Amino acid sequence: MKIIGGGNNQKLLQEIADLSDLEVVDVEFGKFPDGETRIEIKESLLGQDVIIVQSTCHPVNDNLMEIILLVDVLHREMVDSISLIIPYFGYSRQDRQMPQASPVSAKVVASILSNIGVDKITTIDLHSEYSANLFDIFCLNISSASIFIQDIKEKKLQNFVIVAPDFGALKRARIVADELGCEVVVLEKKRIAAGKSTVLNLIGDVKDKNCIIIDDIIDSGGTIFNAAEFLQSKGALEVSAYITHGVCSPKNFIEKLEKSQLKELIISNSIKHNFQSVKLRILSIAGTISNYIDSYLL
Ligand code: R5P
Repeated sequence: MKIIGGGNNQKLLQEIADLSDLEVVDVEFGKFPDGETRIEIKESLLGQDVIIVQSTCHPVNDNLMEIILLVDVLHREMVDSISLIIPYFGYSRQDRQMPQASPVSAKVVASILSNIGVDKITTIDLHSEYSANLFDIFCLNISSASIFIQDIKEKKLQNFVIVAPDFGALKRARIVADELGCEVVVLEKKRIAAGKSTVLNLIGDVKDKNCIIIDDIIDSGGTIFNAAEFLQSKGALEVSAYITHGVCSPKNFIEKLEKSQLKELIISNSIKHNFQSVKLRILSIAGTISNYIDSYLL
């Protein structure tokens, strides 16, 4: 079995390869002068089982196209099977018509990826767990919660609650809270526009408590930074956040983080960043992916 990935997260790919003792396929990715994606496999893969690891993060469409073309060349190289692992599935937030006259893009992209000739698809912390059903072939959505739970346990915090920053995050937050044996509080969030939201209400008590927010995605940061401010206005002590996918689109994301009332932001490396900030820590999901590979794919 061999492992291959696009140009966007070679470090994560190598970490997984080392942990699962897999060889990384020698491949060259590039662009033709007009922007078309170029791929060249540099070794024979005849009869191999191959795992592709590729997030469809920024640049979303280029990364998606790399997967599509990679699968084509792997078939031409006559591999035996292809398993596709998508740590961060771009388009996942467009899983319903919002606004009404818009495509259900998550379904469209899931259908495309289901029909290019891969045998199985694995995702991590999809925006909605039900989105695994949008794929036309078997898709397993695995959780990265264990790396966050481990990190929270190591902090040996006293007097803390887990916070769901909106109702959509409640189930995920509950799983973490049950594992840690603490309470969950929920914020009522209202989305005003893409990338803009406000907190309306808090269900639960945070007075004199440390708050740990759990969510799947941080993008503009609005959800989490507003939540931190709101929680502190209700008497919370320190507020930190554990988020699986650091989309972090704004150019001034780190500046916004540093100005925010958040004590610490912890994200995974499902999306590669070169950010530096005393308020930011990045935890690796390589172990989670490698355990999954060892248990189900090897
Ligand atoms: C929304 O339902 C998601 O779970 C995240 O809360 C959201 O995508 C975060 O986006 P932003 O950082 O732009 O508020």
